[in-house]
Amino acid sequence: MGKIRVGLVGIGNCASSLVQGATFYSDSSKEIPGLITQNFAGYTPGDIQFVAAFDVDRRKVGKDLSKAIFEKPNCTFIFQKEIPNLNCEVQMGYVLDSIAPHTTNFPIDRRFDALDDVYATRDEAKTAVVKKLRDSGVEVLVNYLPVGSEEAAFFYAECALEAHCAFVNAIPVFVSKKWGDKFRDAGLPILGDDIKSQVGATIVHRVLTKLFEDRGQKINRMYQLNVGGNQDFLNMLDRSRLESKKISKTNSVTSQMKIKPDPENVYVGPSDYVPWLNDNKLCFIRIEGEQYGGVPMNLELRLSVEDSPNSAGVITDAIRAAKVALDRKLSGPILEASCYLFKSPVKQVDDYTAKKMLMEMAEVGGGQVSNNGHKSVKEGELLTK
Ligand SMILES: NC(=O)c1ccc[n+]([C@@H]2O[C@H](COP(=O)([O-])OP(=O)(O)OC[C@H]3O[C@@H](n4cnc5c(N)ncnc54)[C@H](O)[C@@H]3O)[C@@H](O)[C@H]2O)c1
Repeated sequence: MGKIRVGLVGIGNCASSLVQGATFYSDSSKEIPGLITQNFAGYTPGDIQFVAAFDVDRRKVGKDLSKAIFEKPNCTFIFQKEIPNLNCEVQMGYVLDSIAPHTTNFPIDRRFDALDDVYATRDEAKTAVVKKLRDSGVEVLVNYLPVGSEEAAFFYAECALEAHCAFVNAIPVFVSKKWGDKFRDAGLPILGDDIKSQVGATIVHRVLTKLFEDRGQKINRMYQLNVGGNQDFLNMLDRSRLESKKISKTNSVTSQMKIKPDPENVYVGPSDYVPWLNDNKLCFIRIEGEQYGGVPMNLELRLSVEDSPNSAGVITDAIRAAKVALDRKLSGPILEASCYLFKSPVKQVDDYTAKKMLMEMAEVGGGQVSNNGHKSVKEGELLTK
């Protein structure tokens, strides 16, 4: 089927896991566990080729991507030490609102160390980024900026539109929700928003609330507290950067509940930064409910996961879905893939339906999708599928 030419924005822990994984999973003759799909409509993880990368950290800019992913403050688990030279030098991006000022109070090894902007104006920066995307033939651009990078996320989305690339938005800034139509008008797919980890806090919490509902138990109150020690959690200590993250995480859990608890009785969000945890994320869920006869009951759960590999497998699917969407000339928000892979797709559906849609797109399990240039599923068509 050919290679998928991918550009990355933000060479942090998530990018590190993704790039390591591209080598780890490069032998397509073997079915190595750890992915939702091995073969996605003809594309394997080994077909992902990194051809452009952008960051603003002085330890990463100018280095080959194969080396930059191991630079501080990245701290994720290294499961693939040897990465061949990728011939993909990390380029200077455009800072805008992506670096939170409070982080400068922390040790340099733990936080971003941003270079000064090299571009005099936004237009100058856009011209340079678009040129790099075009010259390197990027087909799919993945956005891995820090939480709260509202302006910067739309800046890179604009660059993707101009350079005619599909856009995969891994972060909780609502690009696919707000700009889905722009991508549709440009004939380009967009996947997003906010990647949903493979077995992470969101999907576990969603499954538990569904279990309560399916078994006829009322939920009165619940929380989901998350702590970690990577730079994502450090960045999120600034609560003002968290608004869309909290909306995205909370809606992802509550959107499928038929009877929703009072919003005052629901807390879902990042909670604290514990440096020694590094990229290990701990999630604590408590659900208080009522069983038969209105008798109170509760459930407590602790989940421990390495945060970045947990999302990299999902992005591996999202990148291939974006390429398949390009091949099939689908445009706008690609709900067939976004509903299962992201926390905040343009439309939420239940996980069973979402998985079925993804597998049909990936042509797994006999699912068939016509390839004759049809438009992406639109809002409203979905629930009748
Ligand atoms: N399981 C997960 O890890 C998960 C799940 C959902 C969403 N996300 C989101 O994915 C994003 C990336 O996560 P991460 O752990 O890799 O974060 P990170 O903090 O490790 O990496 C962010 C990278 O972006 C770079 N950067 C900052 N400003 C930039 C700019 N203007 N242009 C280019 N690069 C810039 C930083 O230098 C850093 O290398 C975060 O927003 C996170 O919330 C992660």
